[in-house]
Amino acid sequence: MHSNDDSRTSINLADESATIALAQRLAAHLKPGMVIYLHGNLGAGKTTLVRGMLNALGYTGRVKSPTYTLVEPYHVAGLDLRHFDLYRLIDEEEWEAAGFRDEFDGHSVFLIEWPEHALGLIPQADVIIDFEILAEGRKVKIKANTAIGRECLKQL
Ligand SMILES: Nc1ncnc2c1ncn2[C@@H]1O[C@H](COP(=O)(O)OP(=O)(O)OP(=O)(O)O)[C@@H](O)[C@H]1O
Ligand SMILES: [Mg+2]
Repeated sequence: MHSNDDSRTSINLADESATIALAQRLAAHLKPGMVIYLHGNLGAGKTTLVRGMLNALGYTGRVKSPTYTLVEPYHVAGLDLRHFDLYRLIDEEEWEAAGFRDEFDGHSVFLIEWPEHALGLIPQADVIIDFEILAEGRKVKIKANTAIGRECLKQL
């Protein structure tokens, strides 16, 4: 099922391969500086989506969840990407000490799990993806927040 308007869409993902197919479509529209928030419960599919995007761009190494490191950098297909998982971020002090403020240079693509743990510290999202766990599969709501985000969404 697929519903659409200018700034939001909702997609049912029956299984992991559907999540990866969505990741492949998204990967084709990533632009430097783009910020994507990934919301959803533990095990909802956020890292699966990131892994799918990186693989679609041609990354063949292991994509591990940055659960403890909080961020994992990648360079692939001419893009710098930063995959954040902020579940374990403690506070603003830890954020500053880790130098994360300097990460947001408008050049990399930012894929951020658990952005709600760092609101006010991270830039506004261009695209917000919200995973819901269903009895079978997942439902994702995708919302564009900026012109760049809408451009990405339009092409999905
Ligand atoms: N559309 C889908 N339907 C059913 N299962 C899926 C779907 N997409 C991904 N999965 C499975 O759900 C799990 C998602 O794990 P993943 O690590 O991606 O979650 P996460 O949202 O990153 O969790 P966390 O907040 O703990 O980092 C994986 O086992 C994956 O195979
Ligand atoms: Mg994850």
